[in-house]
Amino acid sequence: MSTQPNHQHQLLAQWVTQYRAAAKEGECASYIPALAQKDPNQLAVAIIGTEGHEIKAGDTAELFTLQSVSKVITFILACMDRGLPYVLERVDVEPTGDTFNSIIRLESHQPGKPFNPMINAGAITVSSMLAGHSPQEKVTKILQFLEQIIGKQLSINEEVFESEWHTANRNRALAYYLMDSGFLDCPVEAALEVYLKQCAIEVNVSDLAMIGLVIANDGYHPLLKKQLFPKQVAKLAKALMVTCGMYNASGKFAAFIGLPAKSGVSGAILAAVPGHAGLHSPFPTGCGIGIYGPAIDPIGNSVAGVKLLKQLATEWDMTIF
Ligand code: DON
Repeated sequence: MSTQPNHQHQLLAQWVTQYRAAAKEGECASYIPALAQKDPNQLAVAIIGTEGHEIKAGDTAELFTLQSVSKVITFILACMDRGLPYVLERVDVEPTGDTFNSIIRLESHQPGKPFNPMINAGAITVSSMLAGHSPQEKVTKILQFLEQIIGKQLSINEEVFESEWHTANRNRALAYYLMDSGFLDCPVEAALEVYLKQCAIEVNVSDLAMIGLVIANDGYHPLLKKQLFPKQVAKLAKALMVTCGMYNASGKFAAFIGLPAKSGVSGAILAAVPGHAGLHSPFPTGCGIGIYGPAIDPIGNSVAGVKLLKQLATEWDMTIF
């Protein structure tokens, strides 16, 4: 296989064209009106390597909300703010096999500790423990952390936030349950505001790829030449992405793709390719991958996005296993 950048770019563009058609097997998330209006046929990918080299293809200018991809970021931030023992006392690191917004295990497993930070119960708990006295302070911290990684200011899509805020009955139920069993560090409405605002942060595929690059590099930003978060936290984040990042499809994703990844109902997928996983690829020292394809499957993963990621991971032999 040629490692010429131009050839890689052509291949990416070819795969985007090929997998765009898979969008018809899914649908845009309909429970958030602003997401339902998206064009399901959009598909975009960006890959950034450790030297800053980027290849991208498709609808790369499109902005979309992080949704559940934000759960990795707030988990990392909470570990930095509170220390790992504090976080792990309140959220476990076990996959569930349940849907992302399931409430069942909060009652069936005492003392009701959320199973992991990648499902809603765990993510709401994590959002509640971020440093800051008000939801606004916590959200500002998240935005500042992302600005450090990406190098530009991001904003919140207020329309997406508002529509989720007024329909968040399941998330409210989860938060009240967590509060009752002592797992929330701030009032229910404050925790929900932080959680739903982090979900509504807008990015493009290059932004996602940059976040993936830093996670792949164990918290070290190879372009800024700066350690942004501890290696131990990055390793835990990657383990959680592998075991829980693609919801109840994480097992199949690990088996057939084999990369730490996190998806969101907006159709976003963030993947981190550590150096050893990219050894035989055009990015032999590792890379970050950002994908966007808003038509999702019933589990919540981008249909075309997963197929595209599988194609490039297989073709370029990118896997942690
Ligand atoms: O909590 C929610 O419903 C959304 N704001 C985030 C969910 C999400 O992205 C789960 N996805 N697969």
